[in-house]
Amino acid sequence: MNILITGATGFIGRHLLKQLIQEGHHCRCLVRSLVNKDELFNNSNVRLFQGDVTKPGTLMRMAKGIDVAYHLAAAGHVTSVSKESYKAFFSLNVQGTKNIAETCGQNGVKRFIHFSSTAAMGLIKLPKIDETAPCQPKTPYQKSKYESELAAFEAGGKFGMEVIVLRPCMVYGPGGKGQFLNFCRLIKKGIFPRVGLGENLTPIVHVNDVVQAAVRALFKGKPGEIYLIASETSPPLVDIHKFIAQALKIKRPYFYVPLWIGYMGAFLLEGVSTIYRRDPIVSRKNIISTVTGRVFDIHKAQTELSYHPNEDLRRGIQETVAWFQTNDLLT
Ligand SMILES: NC(=O)c1ccc[n+]([C@@H]2O[C@H](COP(=O)([O-])OP(=O)(O)OC[C@H]3O[C@@H](n4cnc5c(N)ncnc54)[C@H](OP(=O)(O)O)[C@@H]3O)[C@@H](O)[C@H]2O)c1
Repeated sequence: MNILITGATGFIGRHLLKQLIQEGHHCRCLVRSLVNKDELFNNSNVRLFQGDVTKPGTLMRMAKGIDVAYHLAAAGHVTSVSKESYKAFFSLNVQGTKNIAETCGQNGVKRFIHFSSTAAMGLIKLPKIDETAPCQPKTPYQKSKYESELAAFEAGGKFGMEVIVLRPCMVYGPGGKGQFLNFCRLIKKGIFPRVGLGENLTPIVHVNDVVQAAVRALFKGKPGEIYLIASETSPPLVDIHKFIAQALKIKRPYFYVPLWIGYMGAFLLEGVSTIYRRDPIVSRKNIISTVTGRVFDIHKAQTELSYHPNEDLRRGIQETVAWFQTNDLLT
């Protein structure tokens, strides 16, 4: 198949590209720059196309002859709380999705597989959350991911293109640099407290499992459907903390902080970050998210996509921490 991938230079995109190449597909990668591309892109089944999803003029010929597109390009600083961040998220995540989906539709792409996020649903407090739960996005990132789904479906309807939306929860694995790297850095510094006395069930999924779901969506995904992509169950945060500490070979107590102190601390960090115009390392939304134990019901992806997450959390964390260490990301 001729497959287009946006965001192929990113964390999940690189793993997905590798798998699609292995399966013999011809991949066209939309990249912002043609220079410094490593050996993954130096493959006879990979072609680079220079463009920017926020600049429709650069996307004109990109989707010509393409059967299926995977859209992963996005901005994902999930702790951002400012109004400026919403503008940046909107331009890339929402308008960017509209631009790329419309270009694909105009060029007769049959299937558009859009990477959204469980963040699009906001923070839902239900014992088990499935795709029918109403979305309540609140933060700039959450709103932009929700609106990106609407943009993809709208373009699909306009051009008769099949649109499938994948909503992964927090993804970890070698190559990832987002929230999970933050966890590891804080644990290494000894400043990752246990907030509140609840179980703090934390949805997390290995990048290999996400790639498995994405590849299965190629043939098995049903047009117009949304699929939650997570592990079978959410581990308690205390287990994630334990496995990270073990991988880092550090023995530190997982000290307890009452919820109100964690919340006030995050409030202060947000204030300081606003002054320095940076994203806070922890926001109040993160604290609330941490203490709101959540489990995503992946039954739909299991039955319709034959998605079966099978990466072991302890082993996955070990290999991820080893990758961070090799790449000097924990100093
Ligand atoms: N990682 C997670 O935990 C997670 C969880 C749920 C959902 N997701 C979703 O999964 C997708 C991929 O996430 P990720 O973590 O792999 O992202 P990532 O590592 O941050 O990579 C982002 C990608 O987007 C590209 N990009 C950024 N701006 C662009 C633009 N204007 N035009 C074209 N390409 C642009 C980047 O290219 P450059 O190399 O040029 O910067 C990069 O390849 C995103 O949609 C994200 O929302 C991720």
